[in-house]
Amino acid sequence: MSYLIYGAYGYTGQLIAQRAVETGHEPLLAGRNAGALEAVASTFDLPSRVVALDELSRLQSVLGEVEAVIHCAGPFVHTAGPMAAACIETGTHYLDITGEIPVFEALADWDVVAEKREVMLLPGIGFDVVPTDCLARLLSDEMPSATTLELAVYGSGGLSKGTLNSVIEHADVGGRVRREAELIDVPLGWTTRSVDFGDSSRTVVSIPWGDLVTAHHSTGIPNISVYVALPPLGRLAFRLGESLKPLLAWPPLKTFLQRAVDYWLENPSAETRERGETRVWASVRGASGERRTARLTGPEAYTFTARTAVQAAGRVMDGTAPSGFQTPSTAFGPSFATDIEGVERSRIAQ
Ligand SMILES: NC(=O)c1ccc[n+]([C@@H]2O[C@H](COP(=O)([O-])OP(=O)(O)OC[C@H]3O[C@@H](n4cnc5c(N)ncnc54)[C@H](OP(=O)(O)O)[C@@H]3O)[C@@H](O)[C@H]2O)c1
Repeated sequence: MSYLIYGAYGYTGQLIAQRAVETGHEPLLAGRNAGALEAVASTFDLPSRVVALDELSRLQSVLGEVEAVIHCAGPFVHTAGPMAAACIETGTHYLDITGEIPVFEALADWDVVAEKREVMLLPGIGFDVVPTDCLARLLSDEMPSATTLELAVYGSGGLSKGTLNSVIEHADVGGRVRREAELIDVPLGWTTRSVDFGDSSRTVVSIPWGDLVTAHHSTGIPNISVYVALPPLGRLAFRLGESLKPLLAWPPLKTFLQRAVDYWLENPSAETRERGETRVWASVRGASGERRTARLTGPEAYTFTARTAVQAAGRVMDGTAPSGFQTPSTAFGPSFATDIEGVERSRIAQ
């Protein structure tokens, strides 16, 4: 039995299908658009099944053919529920590439039922959150008394239409941080600081990244902030986004902005992905100020995502699929990120 890639004709779904074939896997491809699916299936010479997420019995029958699914159809706030519910019903392991906080929270709430059915629920097997989650777990294993975790990410190479549409989907929520174990609302781009990513120091701004849920689950650390490196114009867009929050909650405006993204923007090209890179910085601090810090460098974010997703599916095929809600590091250990081709970790002396 193999695994299913759902949303296989999306930008990232195609990259994952390509990586799977390069790795020697033979996944089944699926999605709701017959023409788009057939085109990708014939490019990679892989079998395919046309199925929509609301075709419950057909979806369950397709999931019955495989051991696991890599779910790539986002924004996941609309798609993770039906896919994960069907997986729990059919005993199929669920993996996805979401970075959306409400999705991580909703799947964590299904931990007990998934465990009973011996199904693994593993969201976030992309650049968001594999490298940050693995670094967080590594450092917290070394300092179990840590009370604060800070994570920062930098990426060059641009964003896909699907990622921007997912950002727009949640733009009205604003920022988040975790304090004393609680997830709290803060203004978008609440704090800035400087982070040394190894090649240079960059100004980073706080963002509502998936690790606010997943790193808390992986480490139990009660205070977590996540930052992204942004140029001055990006930081200005964050401040503008904060003042436009009430408008961004208006569904017609959301739909208009998402259509504009689909119409006007281009996905990152193969050359852009080839040139791009990612950098991650993670630091834990104990109550008396002691610190441990590590950094990681890797390929461009969508290449990173394709590699981690296929590596995760490979681990499941080899029999590693702990039941219930998991994070990348609880499922596969903190070295999972550095097992990915092109990823290097380094320590920073304190
Ligand atoms: N964690 C990470 O680091 C990471 C990395 C890459 C991407 N992502 C996330 O992955 C998602 C996809 O990104 P992308 O760049 O591949 O976007 P994309 O090119 O727009 O692809 C999205 C895919 O989802 C499908 N889809 C959307 N809603 C659906 C629904 N209700 N039922 C069935 N299929 C549906 C679309 O199919 P139709 O054309 O039929 O609508 C399309 O195939 C985004 O949410 C993005 O943020 C995360």
